[in-house]
Amino acid sequence: MRDIKFKNLDLSLIDKLVLFQKNFLDELNRNVFSKKELIRNLNSKYNSTYICLDQDSIVAFLSAQRILNYCEIHSLFVSPNSRRKGIAMTLLHNLIASCKEKKIDNIFLEVMESNKAAKNLYFKNNFKIYGKREKYYKFNDKEFDASLMKLYLR
Ligand SMILES: CC(C)(COP(=O)(O)OP(=O)(O)OC[C@H]1O[C@@H](n2cnc3c(N)ncnc32)[C@H](O)[C@@H]1OP(=O)(O)O)[C@@H](O)C(=O)NCCC(=O)NCCS
Repeated sequence: MRDIKFKNLDLSLIDKLVLFQKNFLDELNRNVFSKKELIRNLNSKYNSTYICLDQDSIVAFLSAQRILNYCEIHSLFVSPNSRRKGIAMTLLHNLIASCKEKKIDNIFLEVMESNKAAKNLYFKNNFKIYGKREKYYKFNDKEFDASLMKLYLR
């Protein structure tokens, strides 16, 4: 992974992240962070956003929020040209290490039931499915179920 860097979000990366998300609006299901939200997240001790840069261009990010002693992954996205290089794995490992340091009990998330790539990534990191939400996502008038996944840290 030459020229690839992992960083916490900082002010200098906010505009770049807004633009990056705009390039993948459909893949992100239009579920993107505005500049205002990113600045608010940056100033909150409960939010973490990890960025991956390839030659100073953003190629991936992971955003998570701490709620009491839990952590919820809100968004994880790797640009299509940068996939299958271990980037999501590294972003997730960074989050897991930070949660362990903060003595967080578990990390949870929702993922589309049909999203095999993401589910494999989470299974590989010992996340388990603990529930299902029917018709949780709606795109183009179609409804999709969500799998609820959790990693127990303690
Ligand atoms: C899911 C996603 C984050 C994976 O990112 P990535 O950087 O390509 O993943 P990695 O290279 O770190 O892969 C780690 C593991 O995930 C699984 N995986 C990743 N992509 C996969 C695919 N296309 N098919 C099957 N398994 C896949 C594999 O187990 C892989 O390990 P391996 O390469 O040793 O087989 C990426 O495909 C993505 O951004 N998808 C669109 C957004 C999304 O689905 N986000 C998650 C929503 S919760």
